Amino acid sequence: MLIWRTVFRILAPKCVTGLPSQWAGRKALPGLRTATIHFGVAMAAQRRDERFMRAALKEAQKGIGQTSPNPAVGAVLVVADRIVAKGHHRGAGHEHAEVECLSAFGAVHVRDGILAEECTHLNEGFNKWIITGRPFVIAKCGMSLDGRLTRPPSEPRWITSSTARRHAHELRTRVDAVLIGAETLRVDNPRLTVRGMRHGRQPWRVVLTRSGNLPPRAYLFSDRQAARTLVYKRKRLAAVLEDLGKKNLTSVLIEGGGEVLGQALDGRLIDKIQLYLGPMLTGGPVIAFAGRGTGITANAIRLDRVSYRRIGQNICITAYPCPVFAE
Ligand SMILES: NC(=O)c1ccc[n+]([C@@H]2O[C@H](COP(=O)([O-])OP(=O)(O)OC[C@H]3O[C@@H](n4cnc5c(N)ncnc54)[C@H](OP(=O)(O)O)[C@@H]3O)[C@@H](O)[C@H]2O)c1
Repeated sequence: MLIWRTVFRILAPKCVTGLPSQWAGRKALPGLRTATIHFGVAMAAQRRDERFMRAALKEAQKGIGQTSPNPAVGAVLVVADRIVAKGHHRGAGHEHAEVECLSAFGAVHVRDGILAEECTHLNEGFNKWIITGRPFVIAKCGMSLDGRLTRPPSEPRWITSSTARRHAHELRTRVDAVLIGAETLRVDNPRLTVRGMRHGRQPWRVVLTRSGNLPPRAYLFSDRQAARTLVYKRKRLAAVLEDLGKKNLTSVLIEGGGEVLGQALDGRLIDKIQLYLGPMLTGGPVIAFAGRGTGITANAIRLDRVSYRRIGQNICITAYPCPVFAE
């Protein structure tokens, strides 16, 4: 703060001498004075930044000729307008300049683990993918209280409210791909796109089929995003996910139907669930998580970090399957 003020006092008079001649000798107007001060502060900031950047450039020079195919990079750590550490990139395979710089500052000065859980949670998709090569899998569906995905064919298909569906829709903005079974494609003809949101990045669409019986006029094959639809024929879900990981897709949202969700459950492929429960009982054949099931309760997938959110008359349940440790 002291340094800042000193710089300001030096610069401000310099700027005043540069005013147009017709204003010479006049007392500066309040607005004019403000402009002058801002100009002085900007100049000071520019000079300070250049000073630090020159120091970083000097550091970078040390790596010239040794870093290819990486660039020569230097870094300085500035605290309270003082350079407290310097570092440079020593060559391919060595640490980045910023890491060198922080090491020079000294691990005593660095505290880690602060809000670690929140940090991990923020990049949960990337974290899993970078460690395993497989995408982070979110299983999502809207279901009745008796665990069914559909209403009778003659009725509107929605089980949850429009507000709950909008909430669910937002999930698509966070994943790299949305995956469904062919029956969902044939019955619902979904778009699986992000709509009504600014800056929404469109996910890849993935369809599983054994029969290959897919309607060519379906949105997934005919809309503007058609090039971003992948079809996997007669592949195990685990192999499909493996392949998506190889394509650098770090997160996949499984949006049903029941057969595909059941396979994900049986294969213990789910990393997170996001279920929307609508206040109705439908009965009927399409069970939300069909499949073999876990057999005995002892083998059931336990859930952790369970949260319940009320959305009008609907409930959104988010949870993470507990890791299974070999005995
Ligand atoms: N409420 C909700 O949130 C929600 C969400 C999605 C869907 N739904 C409803 O759920 C119903 C569909 O569910 P569903 O359980 O009947 O079917 P589904 O899971 O959508 O699709 C099953 C089909 O997917 C293909 N398939 C599944 N696993 C495969 C694999 N490993 N490899 C290759 N192909 C595979 C097969 O297609 P082929 O037959 O082509 O061989 C299979 O018949 C629809 O009525 C839909 O409206 C509701």
